[in-house]
Amino acid sequence: MREVAIIGIGQTRVDEHWDKSLRVLAGEAILSAMADAKRESVDALFVGNMLSGSANHQQHLGALIADWVGLRYTEAVKIEAACGSGASAFRAGLAAVGSGDVESAVVVGVEKMTDSPGAEITSSLASAADADWELEQGLSFVALNALVMRRYMHEFGWKHSDFEGFSINAHANGAHNPYARFQEAITDSDYHKSPMVADPINLMDASPIGDGSAALVLVPVETLKKTNSPMIMIVGSAAATDSIAVHGRFDPLWLSAAEISAKQAYSQAGIDSTMIDIFELHDAFSIMAALALEACGFADRGQAPRLAIEGQISPQGRVPIATRGGLKARGHPVGATGVYQIVEVTQQLRGEAEGTQVENARLGMALNIGGSGSNIITTILQRI
Ligand code: COA
Repeated sequence: MREVAIIGIGQTRVDEHWDKSLRVLAGEAILSAMADAKRESVDALFVGNMLSGSANHQQHLGALIADWVGLRYTEAVKIEAACGSGASAFRAGLAAVGSGDVESAVVVGVEKMTDSPGAEITSSLASAADADWELEQGLSFVALNALVMRRYMHEFGWKHSDFEGFSINAHANGAHNPYARFQEAITDSDYHKSPMVADPINLMDASPIGDGSAALVLVPVETLKKTNSPMIMIVGSAAATDSIAVHGRFDPLWLSAAEISAKQAYSQAGIDSTMIDIFELHDAFSIMAALALEACGFADRGQAPRLAIEGQISPQGRVPIATRGGLKARGHPVGATGVYQIVEVTQQLRGEAEGTQVENARLGMALNIGGSGSNIITTILQRI
């Protein structure tokens, strides 16, 4: 495989974009990434999206978006892996450029969720769970994560308030991100007063529904001049799967697919977790942030809430997470999220994360999770 670099990034704000269609949203992110890369064209387009068929009655996003952004006749395809669609599309782009099949690619993640009524979108999201064993019982993703969180609290002796730090950190960081859905900090009292969604998950433990798009441009490092500085190189990329149903897992409180993909990515990069400067993890729910920290080697089993309680997850802490707001405050337009995460790690490594910049950030990692832990993609970027 050739070494591959990210030379352009673009994103829209995550919001309720009722006036913009899927192609318009994706087009904004793509054209902004191409302008950032100073490119007018690429050889291939990979689209990460989960719900366009059910929520927008529009499939075939590859050709649709390629045509809209002036890439008619270019190879283009949509890739779906539930909430892991964005990083899965990224891996397709990486493989295409890294293998020498194409000389450049755009990866875009796009999702439009707010046109559908709440019950409908909840039901569409739940189609990424096991239809026979979970959906059939009426379980939504919030409910599934609530079961996992309740078990975790029982097993390791944490109280609900011990999780508040994840939400407070994410919202504090989102306040500095002009692309975030929520741009206001919250207090511990806001956390405790927020309504319960599925006990013990309250509104502040859950990521919101939202529309948005993020994009990036990939090229082989060998085509870049030495003066292209700083260069953001992909030094680790791996994916792993697990049973879709939570009860089918060997241990429902351990994200095996995160552990496997992170270990592979660390080994490709020749590093371990202690060398990571920023970790954009998949905090769709507070409990997912905790489980991701543990499976990727940043905390012992059952101990991740301690990192939040001790303030170690802030941009000044030992393990900065959700540095641009995370899924909790930047938002979680599901199929786009994995691309937002990689765009944000790139911003950090370029020194462009105004307000939440992690000092001297050199190595950053993104963890994108499909389903409740059944398809997990790890990406590690390095500033050269
Ligand atoms: N965090 C903070 N505020 C939120 C929020 C969240 N997650 N979700 C909604 N809000 C706010 C809205 O901005 C709105 O504020 P306003 O009254 O000041 O305008 C208010 O809460 C009500 O919003 P609404 O959209 O009516 O909320 P809802 O009750 O329909 O939905 C959830 C709330 C938590 C049920 C919904 O966001 C949800 O389902 N989240 C999980 C999505 C999910 O499962 N994703 C996949 C994960 S794998």
